[in-house]
Amino acid sequence: MFLLTDKDRARTILGCGDGPASFNAELSRAGGSVVSVDPIYRFGKEKIRQRIVEAYPQVPAQLSLNFSDYLWTKLGGVEELGRLRMQAMELFLADYEAGKKTGRYQAASLPALPFTDKAFDLALCSHYLFLYSAHVGPEQHAASVLELCRVAREVRIYPLVDLDGRRSRHLGPIQALLKESGKEVMLVPVDYRFQKGATEMLVTG
Ligand SMILES: C[S@@+](CC[C@H](N)C(=O)[O-])C[C@H]1O[C@@H](n2cnc3c(N)ncnc32)[C@H](O)[C@@H]1O
Repeated sequence: MFLLTDKDRARTILGCGDGPASFNAELSRAGGSVVSVDPIYRFGKEKIRQRIVEAYPQVPAQLSLNFSDYLWTKLGGVEELGRLRMQAMELFLADYEAGKKTGRYQAASLPALPFTDKAFDLALCSHYLFLYSAHVGPEQHAASVLELCRVAREVRIYPLVDLDGRRSRHLGPIQALLKESGKEVMLVPVDYRFQKGATEMLVTG
């Protein structure tokens, strides 16, 4: 979803809002340098596992209700998606405690991150900003994107649609704000396809 090249994977990366996903575990194992932040990292491993187990049955049920909002060409269906997500979460959980000790997982929330200016080459933020447009307001979007630009030389955000698959109401104002701040802004098509309409990422910095 971020068109990461081998060159990108060799950069220092911040994963913002990474949640219980396996990106950090997999990239770190491959020798990459990545720090993930998420408010859920204030919890210990067992508490996160419990939250995953509680939330898990609701996800396939919700996806079944909105089945036609997604492209199922690469996945057999809701059950296969659930299996793949649980696999990713297990990779995360197996890596979490060791990674937390070395600072690869840090409890923090946008719009205030505990890092110095340009601490990272690249910040990635997936399935939080723009997707939750109805829940995260315009000020929070603006402050969050500027904060990501403060801590990283380049920022990539995906997707740019909300939960209904419509282009986020916050995207236009954020593009204007970034341009006013003298930053380059590009909407770049990505390879990943799952939610209908989620075909682009925002690249800035
Ligand atoms: C739908 S999950 C996405 C997880 C992962 N990035 C992915 O694409 O699979 C959204 C994540 O955003 C995190 N989140 C919520 N509020 C946040 C905030 N203010 N700053 C950073 N992350 C936040 C949640 O805890 C959750 O893990």
